[in-house]
Amino acid sequence: MFVYILFYLAIGYVGLIFAAPAPLNGPLAIRASNGTCPGYAASNIVKTDSSLTADLTLAGDPCNSYSEDIKNLKLLVEYQSTDRLHVKIYDADLKVFQVQEEAFPRPANGNTPSADAALEFNLVESPFSFTVKRKANDEVIFDTSSSQLIFQTQYVQLRTKLPKDPHVYGLGEHSDPFQLPTDNYRRSLLNSESPNIPFNSNLYGTHPVYFEHRGGKGTHGVFLLNSTPMNIFILRDDAGNQALEYDTIGGVLDFYFLAGSKPSDVSKQYADVVGHSAMYPYWTFGFHQCKYGYWDVNMVAEVVGNYSTAGIPLEVMWTDIDYMDLRQDFTTDPERFPIDKMRELVTTLHERGQRYVLILDPGVHAVANQASYARGHEQDVFLKAADGSDLLGVQWPGTVAWPDWFAPQTKTWWTDEFRRFFNPESGIDLDGIWVDMNEASNFCPNPDCNPFPEGNPPAPKNPPRPNTGRPIPGFPASFQPSNLTARADEESKGIPNREWFHPKYTVYNHRGNLSDFTIPMNTSNFDGTKQYDTHNMHGHMMALTTHSAMLDRRPELRPMVLTRSTFAGSGRQVTHWFGDNKSAWEDYRITIRQMLAWVAMHQMPMVGSDVCGFNQDTNEHLCARWAMLGAFQPFYRNHAELSTIQQEFYQWPLVSEAAKKAIDTRYKLLDYIYTALYYQTKTGEPMINPLFYLYPEDTNTFAIQEQWFYGDALLISPVTAEGSTQVTFYLPKDTFYDYWTGAVVQGEGTNVTLTDVSETEIPVHIRGGTIIPQRVNSANTTKQLRKEDFTILVAPDAEGKATGRLYLDEGEKLDQPNTSEISFSFEGGKLSSTGSFGYTGESGESVTVKNIRILGQQQAGKVGTWDSSAKSVTVEGPWKLVGAWAVEI
Ligand code: GLC
Repeated sequence: MFVYILFYLAIGYVGLIFAAPAPLNGPLAIRASNGTCPGYAASNIVKTDSSLTADLTLAGDPCNSYSEDIKNLKLLVEYQSTDRLHVKIYDADLKVFQVQEEAFPRPANGNTPSADAALEFNLVESPFSFTVKRKANDEVIFDTSSSQLIFQTQYVQLRTKLPKDPHVYGLGEHSDPFQLPTDNYRRSLLNSESPNIPFNSNLYGTHPVYFEHRGGKGTHGVFLLNSTPMNIFILRDDAGNQALEYDTIGGVLDFYFLAGSKPSDVSKQYADVVGHSAMYPYWTFGFHQCKYGYWDVNMVAEVVGNYSTAGIPLEVMWTDIDYMDLRQDFTTDPERFPIDKMRELVTTLHERGQRYVLILDPGVHAVANQASYARGHEQDVFLKAADGSDLLGVQWPGTVAWPDWFAPQTKTWWTDEFRRFFNPESGIDLDGIWVDMNEASNFCPNPDCNPFPEGNPPAPKNPPRPNTGRPIPGFPASFQPSNLTARADEESKGIPNREWFHPKYTVYNHRGNLSDFTIPMNTSNFDGTKQYDTHNMHGHMMALTTHSAMLDRRPELRPMVLTRSTFAGSGRQVTHWFGDNKSAWEDYRITIRQMLAWVAMHQMPMVGSDVCGFNQDTNEHLCARWAMLGAFQPFYRNHAELSTIQQEFYQWPLVSEAAKKAIDTRYKLLDYIYTALYYQTKTGEPMINPLFYLYPEDTNTFAIQEQWFYGDALLISPVTAEGSTQVTFYLPKDTFYDYWTGAVVQGEGTNVTLTDVSETEIPVHIRGGTIIPQRVNSANTTKQLRKEDFTILVAPDAEGKATGRLYLDEGEKLDQPNTSEISFSFEGGKLSSTGSFGYTGESGESVTVKNIRILGQQQAGKVGTWDSSAKSVTVEGPWKLVGAWAVEI
């Protein structure tokens, strides 16, 4: 058991947990200069009660710095709700690309009278600039006056002032500090395959939203709906002035300002804009095992069997591309993964109460005898090269064609492929699906590369193409389709004839140029848009299409779709893991800050990393710690790369012991975290809380990135250093209890050091004032777990009060007619349970509270037994969670 050492010294804490900003790798070299651009002047200002519109006209000679200045812009300001202000600056001719509604459905405009709004928009006419102010305290949260707006065909720049040393979060996907560095820091948003998730780089997803926290002055959020690649800088000049600057290579400035004022309010308001997260099945909180390199179906079964033998619960088994025939989607390797045996595997897993998930990649092997490809080609679902043939690249199977996820026929084809392959009669019955490589990752390093490396079969000749109505830009009229009626909105799909490959201003890409290792940026989508503008939504669109195909297969069940590449709003339907990390202590630490940003800021709660690390061999010490860390993160999957050693938890006695304990605890807490997920899906309130969310005025919490609240009650403070059995962490000024012993630990707003934290232990503290419903016992599968009774753990605050909640439903179905939303409250020695009680338990599932345990009790109560060393009172039940009840101790 670990030992507490208290340091009554708060100062200096931040330095301990805040990693130094990563070096910039010369980002300022690609920062634009805006010196001589003329800016814009506003005219024709029309105000209504809840909106404002204006014309913006270029205020002088064009500077054409990186492309052509667009002379006439429009400004639209909408007070969409009391907490949300929408500000959009776009070209008057509507030629500039705007994110498609199907990729990002716009939130409804409530037309709130500006007088009722928390934020206030103010305009300066000439030179045009604007401010957004929080009315309650006159705090200016956005102010563009320090530089001229630049709006060109391939370059848009807008800068807002920031306070000194601002507390800024979000702007994913990245592996940088949770509280973003502010000293000339660059974020680049260009989705990309990112081996070893490098620092200060573009990674797999694009989420152009930041949260800025000003302590007692409030927290706000700013979301820019723009998918075109961009750099975002947090700047500091020599005088110490700070600013945030957007530098995009296109698109419009479509801002949503979120008023907060508490951090969790911003999360909720952002959920209202991008969509509330999907609700995930109960079983997805079980433990998952995967590896690239399970050679055959027997090996997969063996791993499942080994988990049972070791006594470590395994809920979900995954198979990577190994199952495919020559790594082709919708096929199985006839020798290693014969379809009959795969079916048997799945049936056996299901009989054991376990689940199965398979992977799919976007690149479809482009050879004539590949059935899925042939059908797709026939239906014209693939992106096209300039000559009208299927555009080719290289992915796992060799030469591949890329589905055009914006084409309606692609959805039909993909759904049909699902029907053929993922069905219990002739194919495989799946519980979830994993879509990967969808940035898209192209092994062809650049657009000129030869997609037919020696040995790859040549692509088939294309049959004559039906007239798709797709215009071919830059070609004479004889090439153009005759019927353009369906494309009347063509002009809003993006300016034609841009410099697709090497725009004068470009974004940082750790893979090289814009089109390197991906689909060339000049490629047209079905709707006439270009990859240049939609690249960052490729994975998002694939994932949404896959979600709908899963729904087609299992219309009554909540789909589980895991995607590598994402865009703002992906969380509405699908979820994400943090990609190809490595088995290193740094990567173990990174998972924490990534989780904090994804759950709280990007509204994608069911996230996690490859536990024990993906690339490179792991070791038992790292893996033991990671098994425990992962158990307190939402998505809990052990996964490793092809060439690494086997890293299933049972490979080492130490890791087995750590994992058993971790999974045991996770499962007992499963209803607690499932409840937190449910409320996140309803309200946007995050199921994982950064410390500053619960202590927004405690400046010591702002940069903490190696601790988190699992739900809103359990503070997790893992050992994060290699070889260490010690952890120094922050305990806010509040009452806490050691989760493992129940002992009171008074937080003083100081550092606490724990020593002798063995490799099978993880410090967990309960925040006073909370009530945690748990299962008395854990189980091998979540199906069995649901049969276990509950125990209610009460952790009173300094005033002896506590509250908690429990959501119960059937666990898997989309439609849940019978649910319970139970509120627990403890006050004056009385615990009461009230709420709605629709769920009564099915198939032997328990809705019984076996006992309650109240911590922090200095003496015995009227009922129950008092544990004098743990200072807790336990009262035996039973009580049924099917109606209100109360107990006085
Ligand atoms: C990608 C994925 C990884 C997977 C591998 C093989 O690298 O990120 O998780 O194992 O492809 O499919």
